Amino acid sequence: MQIQESLVPEAQQILQANDRGGFTVPTAGLYPFQWLWDAGFTALGWMQFDEARAWQELDLLFQGQWSNGMLPHIVFHRPEATYFPGPERWGVARTPPTSAITQPPVVASVVRWMLERARNPVLAEEKIRSLYPRILAYHRWFKRERDPHNTGLVTVLHPWETGADNSPAWDEALGRVTVDPDLPPYTRRDTSHVDPSQRPHQSEYDRFLTLLEVYKRAGFDQLRLVRECPFRVASLLIDCVLHRANRDLLWLSERFGFGDEAEIAGWLEASRQGIESLWDEGAGLYFNRDLRTGQPIRVGVSASFLPLFAGTASPERARRLLGTLEAWAGRVRYLVPSTDPSSPRFEAQRYWRGPVWAVVNYLIALGFSEYGYGEMAGRIRQDTLELCETAGFSEYFHPLTGQGLGGGSFSWTAAIYLAWSQSPHTPGAGGSL
Ligand code: GLC
Repeated sequence: MQIQESLVPEAQQILQANDRGGFTVPTAGLYPFQWLWDAGFTALGWMQFDEARAWQELDLLFQGQWSNGMLPHIVFHRPEATYFPGPERWGVARTPPTSAITQPPVVASVVRWMLERARNPVLAEEKIRSLYPRILAYHRWFKRERDPHNTGLVTVLHPWETGADNSPAWDEALGRVTVDPDLPPYTRRDTSHVDPSQRPHQSEYDRFLTLLEVYKRAGFDQLRLVRECPFRVASLLIDCVLHRANRDLLWLSERFGFGDEAEIAGWLEASRQGIESLWDEGAGLYFNRDLRTGQPIRVGVSASFLPLFAGTASPERARRLLGTLEAWAGRVRYLVPSTDPSSPRFEAQRYWRGPVWAVVNYLIALGFSEYGYGEMAGRIRQDTLELCETAGFSEYFHPLTGQGLGGGSFSWTAAIYLAWSQSPHTPGAGGSL
């Protein structure tokens, strides 16, 4: 299928309309602040037509960085009433206010991709020299405070950290969180923007918010929360994105002579082993792990393919993953559904329980491409572009009908369209999609 060039200006206009003066909101109303991994992908989109603005997106994101290195998942640059939970509920005393948890750390990889696409390498180098120490501090925080025993897997403290808020992978682990009997009352805002059938259930929201009270009571002490938080999982989205980000950080360190290669290589050896320990031979997939029970969470999700993006999978495991995704493809029209479509937990239109997400597709396709499976990578790219062209730049898409779901005029969907349609040769991939 040919790219409809006419959609490129439309995608650019979405980023411009969602620009709030240096940072981009994911979509007006539903998500009116700056989100971490959205900002990464959105910067990649801006890079296609305004490089200075692309780098600025990351500069503003790091305005939210904590002094311990943590990069929060939301930066509340200015007050907005259309979203809950806002800064008051998080209770983080800093300027600008932020949330108290993180999200998939895509930034180091995005910075590398931006450098590889830069038409202004002087600006790129200047920006990288200022961003690099902050990214390194962020990755050191992951190691020091979220993997203090060097297991190679990060302890994730909230489903929101994984980026896949209501994935069926978290059902049991979240179900074990007892709702705080003194949970302060609240009014959800999300269901006034989007049909509730496409959003998480109330029982999940009560637990999401209970976890915020747990953090506040612990004074946000990460080492204590890693031991005591009632929700603790190893998430493929976080671990694989972090592994890849550390590979890219090491590459940047070498290229610019920062001298941190040995430290980063040590992290990579541990996380390679950690990720590979999540492989399930019978299922032909990687599974997330419940760190309270130590047990694998045996539900296939789109993140189950991300060890290809991380680059930790053996060629044999990569071949098995291809077979698994081919089986999924027999049940849906559009790849990649966020949950195994043969699972009883699959729900085609509920957020992370079935719908297709453009950003995850980008990572999975890159992984298949790098393992030499160009046909599957091309199929995933094609499906993504076709979804945007027929349903618009929606937050997520129905994997059977292609219907656009969730928020509309969505920044990261438009950004992936721009990144993919204007540079089909994926950076760093060594192969074309
Ligand atoms: C939702 C998604 C999350 C995303 C955010 C903003 O919470 O689950 O991954 O970052 O929206 O788009």
